[in-house]
Amino acid sequence: MIGSLNGSVAGADGTSESLSSKQDRRILGVIRELSDVVLVGAGSVRAEGYVVPARAALAVVTSTGNLGGHRLHASATTSDRPVYILCPRSAVGRVEAVDGTNRATIVVVDDVDGLLRPAAIVDALHSRGLTRIVCEGGPVLAGRLFAADLVDELCLSTSPQIVLGSRALLESDQAVTSRFSLRQLLLDDQGATYARWERSRPTSS
Ligand SMILES: NC(=O)c1ccc[n+]([C@@H]2O[C@H](COP(=O)([O-])OP(=O)(O)OC[C@H]3O[C@@H](n4cnc5c(N)ncnc54)[C@H](OP(=O)(O)O)[C@@H]3O)[C@@H](O)[C@H]2O)c1
Repeated sequence: MIGSLNGSVAGADGTSESLSSKQDRRILGVIRELSDVVLVGAGSVRAEGYVVPARAALAVVTSTGNLGGHRLHASATTSDRPVYILCPRSAVGRVEAVDGTNRATIVVVDDVDGLLRPAAIVDALHSRGLTRIVCEGGPVLAGRLFAADLVDELCLSTSPQIVLGSRALLESDQAVTSRFSLRQLLLDDQGATYARWERSRPTSS
């Protein structure tokens, strides 16, 4: 994910596009190449469009089935990677009715009042052989994965700008603290930083 100096998830245009840069997109591409599946929330699909990555599958999580603004058709000639829509049973009809989702496999995942359990999302991907999962956000989905302590690594780019009036990089209604250790840090000539953080877990004795 990329944030501003004050931890905003989007720039002036309301998307991550205006925080990002050529270097950031290059790093994103490398991370995608190392992954089996890119996992995103439906809010990111609605805000940013989202095309299917060239070399990784795409998995979209939704409780409502509202995928307005998706660009799955636009990927038809650039990627043959699978697309999975993860949703509760109650949203299947709405997902099926979205034009262009016929190239996607709908995966019904355990839910609590329409919200998929984060561990069940990971299990659903693992059971399809997709074990290297890269969640690209947005703040609600990523916040839930952090709150459930399911994140091993955080690749966080920081754009050298303050953006007021935007949402935070991660959102959660749970008070959770988890520690990470810095593993890599790159700096570009514009002052943007690119960090890779690894979850520090207590070693069991
Ligand atoms: N800076 C970055 O790196 C970055 C990355 C991605 C997105 N963004 C920005 O983030 C903003 C969008 O934020 P957002 O919070 O709406 O994005 P999001 O986290 O991608 O989407 C939230 C939506 O995902 C679905 N969802 C999440 N967890 C779920 C669960 N456990 N079970 C079922 N559905 C679940 C729900 O979809 P339904 O509403 O369909 O039920 C929920 O409303 C945009 O401004 C976008 O540009 C920034």
